[in-house]
Amino acid sequence: MIRTLRLSLRFVLPLAIALFLMALLVVPWIDTLTTRWFVRDVEIRAQLVGNSIDDAITTPLVAGNYPAIEQRFQRTIGDERLYALGLCLPDGTLAVHTDPWPVPLDCRTASEARTARSLSDEALHVSVRAITRDGKELGSLLIVHDMSFMQRRSADTRFWVIGLFVMAGLVIAGITVLVAQLSLRGWVAGVREMLRDETLRDETLRSPTAPASPELAPLIGDLREMLRDIESEQRLHDDMTLHWTPHTLRKLLREQLSGDEIIVVSNREPYIHETGANGPVVRRPASGLVTAVEPVMRACSGTWIAHGSGSADRETVDARDHVGVPTNNPSYTLRRVWLTKEEEEGYYYGFANEGMWPLCHIAHVRPVFRSSDWEYYQLVNRRFAGAVVNEAKTEDPVVLVQDYHFALVPHFVRERLPRATIIMFWHIPWPNPESFGICPWKRELIEGLLGSDILGFHTRYHCKNFLETVDRFVEARIEYESSTVTVGGRATRVEAYPISIAWPEAPPEGTVAAARAEVFAQAGLPPAHRLAVGVDRLDYTKGIIERMRAVERLLELHPEWIGRFTLIQIAAPSRSSLEEYQRFEAQVREIATEINVRFDSPGPEPVRLLVEHHDSASVIQHYRACDVCVVTSLHDGMNLVAKEFIGSRDDERGVLILSQFAGAARELHEALIVNPYHIDQVAESIHTALTMPDSEQQARMRSMRQLVREFNVFRWAGRMLLDAGRLRRRARLRARLGEDAHELSA
Ligand code: F6P
Repeated sequence: MIRTLRLSLRFVLPLAIALFLMALLVVPWIDTLTTRWFVRDVEIRAQLVGNSIDDAITTPLVAGNYPAIEQRFQRTIGDERLYALGLCLPDGTLAVHTDPWPVPLDCRTASEARTARSLSDEALHVSVRAITRDGKELGSLLIVHDMSFMQRRSADTRFWVIGLFVMAGLVIAGITVLVAQLSLRGWVAGVREMLRDETLRDETLRSPTAPASPELAPLIGDLREMLRDIESEQRLHDDMTLHWTPHTLRKLLREQLSGDEIIVVSNREPYIHETGANGPVVRRPASGLVTAVEPVMRACSGTWIAHGSGSADRETVDARDHVGVPTNNPSYTLRRVWLTKEEEEGYYYGFANEGMWPLCHIAHVRPVFRSSDWEYYQLVNRRFAGAVVNEAKTEDPVVLVQDYHFALVPHFVRERLPRATIIMFWHIPWPNPESFGICPWKRELIEGLLGSDILGFHTRYHCKNFLETVDRFVEARIEYESSTVTVGGRATRVEAYPISIAWPEAPPEGTVAAARAEVFAQAGLPPAHRLAVGVDRLDYTKGIIERMRAVERLLELHPEWIGRFTLIQIAAPSRSSLEEYQRFEAQVREIATEINVRFDSPGPEPVRLLVEHHDSASVIQHYRACDVCVVTSLHDGMNLVAKEFIGSRDDERGVLILSQFAGAARELHEALIVNPYHIDQVAESIHTALTMPDSEQQARMRSMRQLVREFNVFRWAGRMLLDAGRLRRRARLRARLGEDAHELSA
């Protein structure tokens, strides 16, 4: 109300002032004009009066019969406006005059007053008319008119003119305020519609309807540009100024997400309880996902929902299937979800690992798709979505769904928590549309993923593959510039967020030399021996066979290394109940033996295969002990082994050999980048690494350490959460604008 009043005053006040000034100018002008008209009128009347009595008084004047003249004068002044008549003789004597007679008027002043027209305060007009006969002047007739009517009329006119201005002012102000109010409403509604409309952010998303006010059309481009600038400036600012640490992430959560709850969903749990001789023991799984997400959860708290797969998992949870972790100092809640053997086989081993895994990795293993597995996949995805809904304390939690096990979860959660902010992160590569097209349920999977607000991949290349896949198989609007997919009015932003590790807060205990000595002692390697290390799950995508073949080729090409070089391959058993993995393990063992037999020497064997689980301390010892770390994945989303190796080398020594098909190769340019299928090239790279001067090792390692320290896992999570925060603020604003628009139109 006050806003409307203020707005109206803004129009009305200047208008009133302008009209007042105009009235000030116009009224005197009208006064002068009307006076001129009245005087002219009176002069004409005086002439008429003169004409009518001229003849009647000439004869008595010649005869000197002044009483007859006076009589005649008295008869004539019956006219209300004729005030007096007088007769002046040629000698200037006022011979006859009617009563009353204006005192200051005599024959001399009358002739002067002819030009002044007004004689006194009484507002009289005097006309002097000569009376002649035969060309001889006999005297002059003074005709005095009462002009007070003119003053009355002038006052009347002034009153009406001012009245007219006031009326016109009121009407104009009223119409102006009304039109302004209506236009303003239209513009406000139009701007709101524009702000709510996703098309504003995305230039090529054409709004199906024209903007409410066509006058606003030119603004759309400007607004788009402004929003884009603000967003990219904001992102740049975030990237430049934020040194990402757990503390930064916590602060960000507090400030940007106002402490909103975070729920993580993944298949693999961060802590597995296994039955031990003296009760349950905790084990950390070999999983890049867990390596990355766990420190984030420690920083953010919240709830992590995962499959309880350990033999002692059920013993360690409370009635709500919750357990606080890390067990010695809990900082977040692990909620375990139970699966039957059949469910695990169908959903995890079957659909996820025999279907999706080979489908997304180009590792030349045929994907297997069974309808029964698909049924279990849907069922388990629904169950995890249900767990999210149960764990959510609010209607709009931030849900971070992890990986290819849960492509349908975003959609299922969205159905039940429409206001949740869902971030889906795909930890493995996304293939091109032709490859993905093999999957019989491709459409369902894509639609499931598009239930999320943000869909993250490690690299731009995987984002591009995903967008092309959507374009090929789903009815959707794709905006390539802003990397957004819109289906049924809901937008999903597809963005690259390269995952990383938590940069070690302090260097591991003990020196690198001590770690080397310990590992060498354990492995029975002489001090001068040269050591390469590979750390992987025992998976056919990791290029373990190719790596061993490269060692074999190295020894062929550079026999001087026989007996002087060993590759320790740590291979954590993985998905061992699948035949493909069993076959693979057997093959790896066989090839290792074959190479060791072939290059048998008095020195240690060239390949030391350790098919067993290693805890993270032991893995770090190996990273620190080696000369070379070899990562030869045939296809990998990111590969965190490469980054962990870099993180552990505070001595700035050691060489990283890295597959060009791992996402990490897009960031770690100072590694020796290899094609794992090109065995000779990998062999030569191992030789180059073993003979690389210290100074070069240091320069490369220093540069990579700087990058990984900065682009750490807190930045990975932070950038996603910052983007989520922006989306949430935008959604809240949109909701508020919706309410305001509703109020306005009510
Ligand atoms: O690489 C994909 C991924 O889910 C990783 O995130 C994780 O390191 C690995 O697979 C673990 O596999 P699994 O949970 O089947 O042992």
